[in-house]
Amino acid sequence: MDKIIILDYGSQYTQLIARRIRELQVYCEIWPYHLKGYDLKSSDIKGIILSGSPYSVTDINAPTLELSVLSFGRPILGICYGLQVLVKTLGGKVVQSQTREYGKAVLSIIDKNGIFEGLGSETVCWMSHGDSVKEIPADFRCIGRTETCDHAAIVNQEGKIWGIQFHPEVSHTPLGKDILGNFVLTICGCAQEWTAESIVKQQIQWVRNTVKKENVVCALSGGVDSVTAAVLTYRAIGDQLRCIFVNNGLLRKEEPEHVVRNMEQLLGKGRVISVDAKDLFLRELQGVVDPEQKRKIIGRLFIEVFEEEAKKLGDVTCLLQGTTYPDVIESTSVCGPSVRIKSHHNVGGLPEHMNLRVIEPLRFLFKDEVRKLAIELGIPDDVVWRQPFPGPGLAVRIIGEVTESRLEILRDMDFIIYQELRNTPIFKKIWQSFGVLVPVRSVGIMGDERTYKYVGVLRAVMSEDGMTADWAKISYETLDMIARRVVNEVTGIGRMVFDITSKPPATIEWE
Ligand code: XMP
Repeated sequence: MDKIIILDYGSQYTQLIARRIRELQVYCEIWPYHLKGYDLKSSDIKGIILSGSPYSVTDINAPTLELSVLSFGRPILGICYGLQVLVKTLGGKVVQSQTREYGKAVLSIIDKNGIFEGLGSETVCWMSHGDSVKEIPADFRCIGRTETCDHAAIVNQEGKIWGIQFHPEVSHTPLGKDILGNFVLTICGCAQEWTAESIVKQQIQWVRNTVKKENVVCALSGGVDSVTAAVLTYRAIGDQLRCIFVNNGLLRKEEPEHVVRNMEQLLGKGRVISVDAKDLFLRELQGVVDPEQKRKIIGRLFIEVFEEEAKKLGDVTCLLQGTTYPDVIESTSVCGPSVRIKSHHNVGGLPEHMNLRVIEPLRFLFKDEVRKLAIELGIPDDVVWRQPFPGPGLAVRIIGEVTESRLEILRDMDFIIYQELRNTPIFKKIWQSFGVLVPVRSVGIMGDERTYKYVGVLRAVMSEDGMTADWAKISYETLDMIARRVVNEVTGIGRMVFDITSKPPATIEWE
């Protein structure tokens, strides 16, 4: 399949470039700029994009351009730092500007061919740079400028190496996708083969080739990633797959029954082993108030329970995981893994512990692509659009100690929030919406009685990837309905508050 390689120089927008290209139905991968462990040999590679960077090319330790990229002979597009590193490597001059240019600018297009094909003579673009190109290399010409940037776009005489100072991948450059489309489709000549149907076919074949006759176990959480990975793998290897679902007692209302029923419909009976470990988890969490300690206990218990069940299956050698591309990029990022604010619990510890070979059929997919695949595989809508849910579950949504009675209160509150939001126009735009139980008592009045009950919190955020988030602008009517219903229907909650903090500075979860 035709593909584009994006060389990552550490920009926060690198993933966004990849997403835009995938939206054009062209496959692309993000590789580190230094190419260590990667090889530019495949004839499938039709073009290369150089990303932006937090560095300045004038820094002593600035990331450089590998000469093999230039000698590879395929079209290249440098974006921001990518442009500057091209200019510097090819003999032009980049200087530090007095002021950083940040924000919208009007791009005057000098040559309407190539990457600017089909655009007018002016278009809005989005700039974010400190350095500027002062002199372009000998065989290049300028094809676009802005009021403050003389060399906002350049191309070499052969029409193979392109550079732009602005960011076409961000939505503030309204015609950015057309510019990327011109590069990827026309200049590189990529075929638009990256569709849900082709991904399913390709990944089924990949699973068959990778697994062969071995047996696979899947740690099923019920989220869209693990369900999609399981259904895809089942299509590939049938009964060689078994799924283990651990009910840790920290799930939402009716969730365990739902997950098992859904999976039985998708894989048939007998493929999912459901383990009821509620009592064990609650017992071990007794008296624990520290969030990190909660996470550690839940992570350890999950591994213990899973391992014990997997052993009963006998000859299992592979572990299926629903790892997606953002996790892969995170672990190979040229800037190093981002700082962990919370120790996230997932099934990360399992493979080493149990000596299992990991199978990750979704490792090159973004969340929206996983969802398209899930739809293609016939996975029901409520799983496809299920919001991310943390591994430690409701334990990190109860401040302080987790008890059965608090869990019950939280589940009822959370269910009302879901019921009231799911039919609102904003619901599909919300990244996560849920209740948090703050076991602080507050005084209220119901009828003639004084009440003294816990505080419930509504948390709802919009986000692209969970790294940053803004609180969701839910209508007053919906907020009103949620507050009324929770306080009236949930014994234990006397007051409802709405969390209006973004991330940063707050995190999405309360613990
Ligand atoms: P925060 O609270 O760090 O959450 O802003 C970002 C995203 O991560 C999820 N989250 C977790 N997921 N184990 C998980 O598997 C965890 O311990 C955990 N803590 C937070 C959170 O729900 C949000 O989507």
